[in-house]
Amino acid sequence: LIHPVILCGGSGTRLWPLSRQSYPKQFTPLIGDETLFQASVRRLSGVGFAAPVVLTGEPFRFIVLEQLAAAQTQPQGVLIEPEGRNTAPAVLAAALWLASRDANALMLVAPSDHVIPDAAAFRTAILAAAPRAAAGDLVTFGIHPTRAETGYGWLELAEGADASATTPQALARFVEKPDEANAEAMLAAGSYLWNAGIFLLSARAVIAAFEMHAREMIAPVRAAVDGAQDDLGFTRLNAAAWADVPDNSIDYAIMEHADNLAVMPFGDGWSDLGDWNAVWAECGPDADGNVLSDNATALGCAGTLLRSEDGAQELVGIGLEDMIAVAMPDAVIVARRNDSQRVKEAVTALKARG
Ligand code: GDD
Ligand code: MG
Repeated sequence: LIHPVILCGGSGTRLWPLSRQSYPKQFTPLIGDETLFQASVRRLSGVGFAAPVVLTGEPFRFIVLEQLAAAQTQPQGVLIEPEGRNTAPAVLAAALWLASRDANALMLVAPSDHVIPDAAAFRTAILAAAPRAAAGDLVTFGIHPTRAETGYGWLELAEGADASATTPQALARFVEKPDEANAEAMLAAGSYLWNAGIFLLSARAVIAAFEMHAREMIAPVRAAVDGAQDDLGFTRLNAAAWADVPDNSIDYAIMEHADNLAVMPFGDGWSDLGDWNAVWAECGPDADGNVLSDNATALGCAGTLLRSEDGAQELVGIGLEDMIAVAMPDAVIVARRNDSQRVKEAVTALKARG
């Protein structure tokens, strides 16, 4: 069985004001009726999959339980990180926790803020990659790049690897969040895929990789797992041990250094709903290129996202081109769609104002 390991501790500031520090985007129904977290859990259930292991932060623990219950899912565990230390320690904690229950555990590490419309095709790809992960390779999932995105990891295919194969392929290297010039060069080279941020790994290979590339994390994370306390269905990692855990992402700490990487190409649809522009694209703009929620009206607008969330007021746009406007009961953002990445600056500015 493959153990889904769902990461949902991030804060998603580029989707303000829908995504809040206290209620980040993965717990909201950004697209459709389910929340992104619930969709992630459902996507990784069924034949071949164990119950999910969820890793989250203290502030979100009840949201997680509530949303799992609503999705009629009994988790295998909900591990609480005393403080966010990014994804590397979270993945290592999950590996140590799972390895103590099943020495041969395979884990499918997945973020909780993506859209993958064809869940069945995705499960097929995971199951097809399982032998490679069981053999000890670190398997990534690769998406065909369509722009010089600097917010993603890029995967360089090894010579002779086939980017449209349905089996895992060898990787030459992993480049996390390149600068613009490098991203342009990799897009032009044609021998790169985007890293989907999803990994299929044996718990054993994870622990070995940390021993090799991020040794300093092992002792404090192990102490946090060994000293964890079970409490009302949560597994609380030991806070004193966790305080010594360095902050890093799995991409920088492990993937950029490992030489046992493989990639499973996935061509059936994937989107990181990182910002409002991505939400606009994923929601299927109408003939004028607009995406409108209930309570939103567009007059002579084009390429525009108008969202009025539950409890917010009527929202009307006139003559807007390539804009976004998102209204919440207590906050509204209006921006050029191409400036969607800058929305996180709003959060910084508001924080500075106190
Ligand atoms: N439990 C836990 N704890 N989860 C976390 C933490 C943490 O401290 N920090 C982040 N996460 C969760 C986020 O909620 C998200 O679901 C996932 O881990 C990935 O973190 P992001 O912060 O969204 O990473 P990213 O988008 O910058 O980059 C990653 O994803 C890209 C694709 O979307 C990388 O893997 C890139 O290489 C990749 O291309
Ligand atoms: Mg992300």
